[in-house]
Amino acid sequence: MAIERTFTIIKPGVLQRRLIGEIISRFETKGFRILGMKTMRIPLVVAEKHYAEHIGKSFYDSLLTYMTSDPAVVLVLERENAVESLRKLAGSTNPDNAEPGTIRGDFGVTTKINIIHASDSLESAVKEIDIFFDRNEIIIYSDSLKEWY
Ligand code: CMP
Repeated sequence: MAIERTFTIIKPGVLQRRLIGEIISRFETKGFRILGMKTMRIPLVVAEKHYAEHIGKSFYDSLLTYMTSDPAVVLVLERENAVESLRKLAGSTNPDNAEPGTIRGDFGVTTKINIIHASDSLESAVKEIDIFFDRNEIIIYSDSLKEWY
């Protein structure tokens, strides 16, 4: 399978709950390599760009209020089949439907406060990485563990 990059936001509240290490540990143990990572309070214009496809939906305004309410951690992750693998690791959007063992199934609260965002396609990943990261913030390095994953 092809090596892909995907994008994730560990959403507001997770830093407050001291769960960042737990979530990132799940990425690492599943074989994702971290190419970029930063903590940020997401500016409203960035949240609007990221969630443009949801304009007009009933939850749009409250989603933007929540996503800009407190710091988040954003990451660029790489591995084989990264987009689909991360979606599986994340679990269903509504944490009530997410399987135990998935990030949302284990830590999710509501559909809005669902712990992480994970790109839904390679095209979205490229677009979203570009929204949140400058090129020089993505670090390419050789993978000394690649034969084990
Ligand atoms: P995310 O993967 O970040 O992509 C869009 C987000 O919108 C989704 O996770 C949820 O946080 C949020 N969302 C989707 N549907 C609803 C809903 N019905 N009510 C509230 N928030 C929603």
